[in-house]
Amino acid sequence: MDAKKLVARLSRLTDSVEALEKAVAYAFISVNSYDTNKSAFLTKYFGDLDYAVAKKATSIITETDVSLSIYALVEVFELLLPKDIKKENGMVYTPTEIKDYIIGKVLQTDNIPTVCDPACGCGSFLLSAAEFIKRVHGISYSEIFSKYIFGVDIVEHNIEKCKVLFNLLVVASNETIESVLNLKVGSSLSLDWGNEFNLYPEDGFDAIIGNPPYVRSRNVTSEVRNEMSSWQTAKTGNADLYIPFYELGVEFLSARGKLGYISPNTFIQSVNGRSLRRYLLENGFAISILDFRETQVFKNVTSYTCITIVDKSCHDGSIRYALLNGKRSLSDYSFTEYKKGCFNGYDPWRMSEKEIDSIIKKIENVGVKLDSYKIRNGLATLKNDVYFFMPTCEDELYFYRQNNGITYPIERCGVDVVLDKWNLKEGHDKYAFMEQAVNNPEVTHSIKSPQCEQSVFHPQPQYFLY
Ligand SMILES: C[S@@+](CC[C@H](N)C(=O)[O-])C[C@H]1O[C@@H](n2cnc3c(N)ncnc32)[C@H](O)[C@@H]1O
Repeated sequence: MDAKKLVARLSRLTDSVEALEKAVAYAFISVNSYDTNKSAFLTKYFGDLDYAVAKKATSIITETDVSLSIYALVEVFELLLPKDIKKENGMVYTPTEIKDYIIGKVLQTDNIPTVCDPACGCGSFLLSAAEFIKRVHGISYSEIFSKYIFGVDIVEHNIEKCKVLFNLLVVASNETIESVLNLKVGSSLSLDWGNEFNLYPEDGFDAIIGNPPYVRSRNVTSEVRNEMSSWQTAKTGNADLYIPFYELGVEFLSARGKLGYISPNTFIQSVNGRSLRRYLLENGFAISILDFRETQVFKNVTSYTCITIVDKSCHDGSIRYALLNGKRSLSDYSFTEYKKGCFNGYDPWRMSEKEIDSIIKKIENVGVKLDSYKIRNGLATLKNDVYFFMPTCEDELYFYRQNNGITYPIERCGVDVVLDKWNLKEGHDKYAFMEQAVNNPEVTHSIKSPQCEQSVFHPQPQYFLY
């Protein structure tokens, strides 16, 4: 049974997320016979445990084949979070192999590194970093968590879960913890870092890691937009929320530090990634990008991602790029190196394979460029039957469209909801005139989809006119 099914079963025990989380944490303790007295925090945390729910949860967990490791617990906590909180704060959680890859590349082994995740969620990156430090440097978790691990998240519930998980990791190693943790609730973009953390390293962190929030520009609230505007990479140009987290991360690194993020890959080419590209180029840090292109890394969410490593100690201005599209292994890649001067901060960074790059360059250098024309009209497809459609059903990833008896799944992220204003009259039910518009034809898959029978179509509350 996978964690999602386990959570579905557990959720039938009670409506209270908090009671369920406690019950699952308790199951972790009791299945493994750990001693909670080693942590005053845990003793207090379990003070109001609902034993009836905890017992039932423990027996459900022992019946399933989910081995309750600390990371399984993180996954269960993350799955239990309400969907609206996840969407608003751009939460998608990182698979273990991605975390391990980033940690292996970014955490140095000579000195004990200070590590920060500025959007730490329930702390899974930081747990892996703490394990790494323990393995390599052999110091106690109490010391690791009090001196070397730092995390911030805007959602208080997430920081509470970090505290629980850090304490559980300590007691699972048969150690005692009394130390204060460097975990803060707040927006990393506006936090007074020096004041918030007693031990904030003045010359910056040795490693910044994480998976910054995935919120598209159009869904960013005005409050957050305001915070973003104090970062040069997000001042103008409708930046997505993850973009200033790059600047923040680099700024907070020590001179010898490294940053490693998994994030959307849109900044490589998008117009709203221009300021970030310029920022990275102007500073000339050595950058490596592993681009997953269309390959989906996260469960249940469509996102186009890459792993980016920024080495602040190296200023050769090089960008190393590898395409991992369709590849299964994180070791199956080879970098193409682009030397300083190959790119400017304005144009998209076109990187795929050397031969393809040179063909694209040739094409770009012939004819008259569109930017020399003034374009006054908006987009007119002149082919509405191709671009506009009423889905027959939908699920988390796709809208489904029928054509000539075949069902085509169309990725949700490539579709906008529109309202046909020409046919809509006063008093009409607007939902009857809502259609989906494909904004990127590449997201239509020409495969027959069996899922369609099981899913239903819910009209969206948000729409555009055409
Ligand atoms: C994509 S999740 C990553 C969580 C975790 N690092 C992981 O990979 O499993 C992004 C996290 O950013 C947090 N977040 C969103 N806006 C933030 C902000 N302005 N400051 C700090 N954290 C923020 C969300 O609450 C969420 O936990």
